[in-house]
Amino acid sequence: MTIENMNVSEENTVYPPNPALFNGTAPKPWISSLEQYREMYKESIEQPDAFWTRMALDNLSWSRPFTKVRQGSLDEGDVAWFVDGELNISYNCVDRWAEADPERVAFVYEADEPGNAQKWTYRRLLQEVCRVSNVLTSFGLRKGDTVAIYMPMIPEAAVSMLACARLGLVHTVVFAGFSASSLAERVQDAGSRVIITADEGLRGSKIIKTKAIVDEAVQSCPKVERVLVFRRTGNEVAFNKDRDVWWHEATDKQRPYCPPVPVSAEDPLFLLYTSGSTGKPKGVLHTTGGYLLGATITAKYVFDIHAGDVFCCTADIGWITGHSYVVYGPLSLGATSVIFESVPTYPDPSRYWKLVEEHKITQFYTAPTAIRALRRLGDSWVDKCDLSSLRVIGSVGEPINPEAWLWYYNKVGRGNCSVVDTYWQTETGSHVIAPLPGATPAKPGSATLPFFGIDVAVLDPLTGKELEGNGVTGVLAIRKPWPSMLRTVGGDHKRFLDTYLKPYPGHYFAGDGVTRDEEGYYWIRGRVDDVINVSGHRLSTAEVESALILSPSVAESAVVGSPDEVTGQAICAFITLKDGVSATEEEVKKELVAAVRKQIGPIATPKILIIVDDLPKTRSGKIIRRILRKVVAGEADQLGDVSTLSDPSILKVLIEKVNAVV
Ligand code: WTA
Repeated sequence: MTIENMNVSEENTVYPPNPALFNGTAPKPWISSLEQYREMYKESIEQPDAFWTRMALDNLSWSRPFTKVRQGSLDEGDVAWFVDGELNISYNCVDRWAEADPERVAFVYEADEPGNAQKWTYRRLLQEVCRVSNVLTSFGLRKGDTVAIYMPMIPEAAVSMLACARLGLVHTVVFAGFSASSLAERVQDAGSRVIITADEGLRGSKIIKTKAIVDEAVQSCPKVERVLVFRRTGNEVAFNKDRDVWWHEATDKQRPYCPPVPVSAEDPLFLLYTSGSTGKPKGVLHTTGGYLLGATITAKYVFDIHAGDVFCCTADIGWITGHSYVVYGPLSLGATSVIFESVPTYPDPSRYWKLVEEHKITQFYTAPTAIRALRRLGDSWVDKCDLSSLRVIGSVGEPINPEAWLWYYNKVGRGNCSVVDTYWQTETGSHVIAPLPGATPAKPGSATLPFFGIDVAVLDPLTGKELEGNGVTGVLAIRKPWPSMLRTVGGDHKRFLDTYLKPYPGHYFAGDGVTRDEEGYYWIRGRVDDVINVSGHRLSTAEVESALILSPSVAESAVVGSPDEVTGQAICAFITLKDGVSATEEEVKKELVAAVRKQIGPIATPKILIIVDDLPKTRSGKIIRRILRKVVAGEADQLGDVSTLSDPSILKVLIEKVNAVV
């Protein structure tokens, strides 16, 4: 395991919390000084039972209160929270606000075509969630069954998740940019009998054949009995009368109330697949009470959400960010959440900023890749919009470079907003390192300080020894269980133990490198395993390599991440061809790109494909990816020890080839 890319430029200026939060025009921040943060943090670590009991009772509604706060340990991998408590997530996210204030807006739906925003009140949301729950019950689904959701960014995607949660069904949302074969793999692994989808999707006016992809996937999923289809575009799609059901027809027949099923705090809520070091994605399993508590209180404290706020997270519901911060976190606080179906540059690059202006968004949360891409398109798009409603602007998914941070702070925040760079993972369920807007002075490029209850340790990657004190660099680990951590990998608890808990016994291993600077601030250095982060999307090198190797022309493949100004990393694939391949290089490359898109989806498309005669290998034949990574990063002069190479002469050719294309 190596930690590379250490020379991230560090900006030393410290930016105090947004002063506008204290001038009386905005609600007073929940946490309004660094001392208050430190006191609460200390309590969360030293007296976790008292701290979490208060958090759980103050922020969630329990149908049966818990008497036991925590059990299990990271050593054993048997962590559980609030075990004898019962609650229902859909009740917490919908009913309690529909009862208190039915006309309050739950979702603002900004459709792909601008000018068509729809507002969903909590009353309407409750009715629709109940109807869909009743439809799912009519399909014979019962508590514990899984339902796959493959939908565009429309309110009905969130309704589907909440309808599952209402009945104790386990949802597995699959990002609708994944290919039929990726969808099939996830549906099979989760054992879903039902898929919820739409006829088509629309993104930046482009049509996505959502239902057709489901039809293709279902061919290899014999267990799927029902496909519930929401009509989004209304274009004609193939319809199998024995299996497919129209959403509007089925929901019309159902009563708009369905009692929420109280479930145990430790009953599963969802599976969400994410890439790891091997080719097969892992189904990360989150449970009910701990997950909801994590999503709720991070949304509350890290975004400083108050009554009346309009919160916008641009992530797709198919990713964890969409789960925690489009759906569960904001709704559990009774806030208004914006569902954005389009892309930031459609119809022009002011789309995000017009959205903020039109809906008077108070917190805006997006990814560094979008910030960098918009920054390159010039300031005029952002300058012309009224962004005065914003108080907090957030970033997630990958390290944000100081230049992008400063542009976000100055141009979008107008120097008047707190920037929250939030570090977390699918596995952590909610933020683990992040500033609090009214408390934490920010340093551009640093995710700052740990959230409540997160006991961060920096470990020596080789010995596993803890690196104490400040000014240290190592791998990021967490020493104590926290409520919203994953509980297992669906169907493979051993993989859960091997991936997260065994590498450094007694710790959760995050897979990222980290520096703790002289002031105790954390700087995330990127993955230390074989995971590539492209535009904030995680992909494993093995996954892409397996897709490439399926091609009849390919003998070997090695995939690494190469630095990219906009997407953070890009996929760079090295290929050796089988003997006797007669196709031209261009033909082979075209075929390979098509193969990856079909096997995984467009997000995995290699940006750089290099056909070589030989790959750098050890004498035992193992590909040395470290060398490939250095060469594509333009650091061929820093290859370090190459004595393990079986044939050092290949280096010169390799470097020449790479320099010709990168
Ligand atoms: C990376 C997304 C630096 C990191 C929520 C992590 C970040 C992986 C940040 C998880 C950040 C996420 N700064 N790196 N603020 N946020 N990452 O599971 O490498 O899709 O391990 O969850 O993204 O990606 P995932």
